Amino acid sequence: MNTVNIADLRRAAQRRLPRAIFEFIDGGSYDEVTLRANRADFENLTFAPRVLRDVSKRDLSIELFGERLPLPLVLAPIGLCGLAAPRGEILAARVAAARGLPFCLSTAAVCSIEEVAKATGAPFWFQLYVMRDRGITRSLIERAQAADCKVLVFTVDLPVTGQRDRDQHNGFTVPPKITFANAFDMLRRPGWLREVLLGTRLTFGNFAGTSAGVESNLMSLAQHIARNMDSSISWRDIEWARSIWKGPIVLKGILSPADARLAAEHGADAVVVSNHGGRQLDGAPSSISALPAIVDAAGDRLSVLFDGGIRRGQDAVKAIALGARACLIGRAFMYGLAAQGEAGVTRAIDILAAEMDTTLALLGRTSISALDRSSIQVR
Ligand SMILES: Cc1cc2nc3c(=O)[nH]c(=O)nc-3n(C[C@H](O)[C@H](O)[C@H](O)COP(=O)(O)O)c2cc1C
Repeated sequence: MNTVNIADLRRAAQRRLPRAIFEFIDGGSYDEVTLRANRADFENLTFAPRVLRDVSKRDLSIELFGERLPLPLVLAPIGLCGLAAPRGEILAARVAAARGLPFCLSTAAVCSIEEVAKATGAPFWFQLYVMRDRGITRSLIERAQAADCKVLVFTVDLPVTGQRDRDQHNGFTVPPKITFANAFDMLRRPGWLREVLLGTRLTFGNFAGTSAGVESNLMSLAQHIARNMDSSISWRDIEWARSIWKGPIVLKGILSPADARLAAEHGADAVVVSNHGGRQLDGAPSSISALPAIVDAAGDRLSVLFDGGIRRGQDAVKAIALGARACLIGRAFMYGLAAQGEAGVTRAIDILAAEMDTTLALLGRTSISALDRSSIQVR
């Protein structure tokens, strides 16, 4: 069957990955209420199309941090991206570079900052989780700076980790282990088993050689890292990061207008309206429902980026019409990566770009950056 949409890539990813790995990517926290709301609330927004407006020339480009991007898309930071495909971060970063889009490397990636820099030769963004050991945190920032990362994305919605019930039921560990309970499922996925589990070193590349990366016999590496995250982070840490980092700082995981105002006061250049893809606070509002009030609070002091639930170009167009400058995509590119590696990430971007282009034309609009709320009506 032809791959015509992101849902097709998702099904292909499901066929390629062992259940525990697919569900780690696909799932959310607790009852997944917020995960579902991210999609459902997009579906409750209706477009307000106009006709007979000459849409023969269309422009999907936007400006972000002084650069022109051909599409309003950024590849979101995904921890353990390399579980989907061997050296997954490098594959995704290469596609992003080829398409002129930013790739954001997660602190919790399989490939380290230096590996991605070396393999792609193109600038990328770095997402920071603050560890209790501030020496490690500072060195992550300095390493990102040395690798010429352009933007620091400071994720603020993970002072502690929300429970992902599916991961617990599946006995998901990092590195993944073949157990009596999952052996049958793993063996049915020989491609993944050979290329990813047996073919690469699955660890948190950025922590190799640091105390946070010491492999412990007592708990899985993922738990070890989670316990080393600093839940005492506060606005003071944003000022601290600001004093070290020279480029733009983006706070990812903002859901309230009050926090957007504080972000501006503490020196952030942008926020990402995000609920971590429904993986943290279950019961948090969908990202799209939180967006308009944050755009209003930000005014022209902050750029507002958006993520959560984008599976169609139409979704990205809705977010931009409601005031987002650009959209981060998480699972949409991860499904492509898992299904077909580099080609799958390219396919995911092509699918979304074509859908955005057609949507713009059918809306009677020609420039994505000129969209405003008049293109949307709430059902
Ligand atoms: C498997 C997975 C791992 C993630 N890891 C991180 C991470 O390490 N850091 C981070 O800031 N966000 C992380 N996120 C959240 C994404 O950056 C993004 O906010 C979310 O995926 C957007 O929702 P979407 O998947 O519906 O597009 C992760 C999301 C997924 C699905």
